[in-house]
Amino acid sequence: MWRGFPLFPEQASTMAARVDTLYFFLVAVSTFFSVLIATLVVTFAVRFRRRSENEIPPAIHGSVALELTWSLIPLGIVMVVFFWAADIFFAMARPPKGAMDVYVVGKRWMWKAQHVTGQREINELHVPVGVPIRINLTSEDVIHSFYVPAFRVKKDAVPGLYSATWFEATKPGRYHWFCAEYCGTKHSQMIGSVVVMEPAAFQAWLAGAATGSLASAGEKLFGELGCGTCHRPDSLARGPNLQRLFGSPVRLASGEMLTADETYIRESIVNPAAKVVAGFQPIMPTYQGLVGEEGLMQLIAYIQSLGDLGTGGAGTGPGAAPGPAGSMPPASPSPGGER
Ligand code: CUA
Repeated sequence: MWRGFPLFPEQASTMAARVDTLYFFLVAVSTFFSVLIATLVVTFAVRFRRRSENEIPPAIHGSVALELTWSLIPLGIVMVVFFWAADIFFAMARPPKGAMDVYVVGKRWMWKAQHVTGQREINELHVPVGVPIRINLTSEDVIHSFYVPAFRVKKDAVPGLYSATWFEATKPGRYHWFCAEYCGTKHSQMIGSVVVMEPAAFQAWLAGAATGSLASAGEKLFGELGCGTCHRPDSLARGPNLQRLFGSPVRLASGEMLTADETYIRESIVNPAAKVVAGFQPIMPTYQGLVGEEGLMQLIAYIQSLGDLGTGGAGTGPGAAPGPAGSMPPASPSPGGER
C-alpha cells in the first residue's frame, strides 16, 4: 500500500547519503532523549510520589556533578551536530571546480533552464550522471526555490540576485523538481523534472537539441518573439497549444475543420485573424514584417518538431532517443497542466 508513497525520496546525488546520515543521527538523538525524559518523568512521579498527607521531603541543595553532567553532555552533542552540519553545509555551498554550469530562471509559474551550449528547456532539465552541475539561479518576478528532493538540494531563486547551488547525480533517471517557496496561485504547479542521463545519451541529447537545425533556429526565434507566453502547454495559455499540432485536425471558430499544415501555420503567424481556432480570442498580433520568410520556415519547422514528441519520446527518460524538440519539452507531467 505504501509502495511508491514518496515519504522518503530516493538518494540520487553524492550529497544525499551525507544529508540523510546527519538527519538520522538527529532523529536518533531526539528519540533517545524523548524516550529517556518521558520514562524518567513517569518513573519519578511514581517513585517520589507523596505517600501521606503530612509527608515533608528533605531539602536538596543542588549537585555540581549533576549540573556539569547535564550541561556538558548536551554541549558535546550539539557541537558534534554543529561541526558535522557545517561540514555538509560548506560542501553544499561550494560547487566543485570544473562543475558544469546551468542557468535556471524561476518565473510565475515555470522553470526555465539554459545550457551553456545554448539549449533551453522549460520545466525540464537534462544533465549527465556523475558530473557536478552548478545551478546558477535567479528569478524574474518573486522568490521561488529550486528543490530536487532526490538530490537533497534546495536553493532560493531571488529576483535581482544570482545564487548558485550544485549537485552531482549518481543514478540515471527522472526526478521531481519543485518550487519550494510559495509564489502565488499556481505555486503547486511550478514543477518539472530533472532528467539524469548517461554521458553518451546526454551528449546525444545535446546534439539533438543543438542550435543549427532549422527547428532549433525556429525555437530560438519562437523564444525571441515571446510566442511561448501565449502558446504554452498549461492552463495559462491564451493561444492554442502547439504541441503535436502539426498535421492534426483543427476546429476553427467558424466551425470549419482543417488540417494544420505549413500554409495554415504560416497564415496564422502573418495574419492571425484569418483563421481563429475555436475557443480562443482573436488577440494575437500580426507578425507580418517582423518575421521574414526564412524565419517563418524556421518557426514552422519548430512547430513541426513539436509534433514528433509523441513518437520520439524526446528525452523523456534515461537513454530515450533524443529528439529535435528535446530542448522545448512538452507539458511536463504536471497534475494541473492538462486542464
Ligand atoms: Cu515558484 Cu512557488
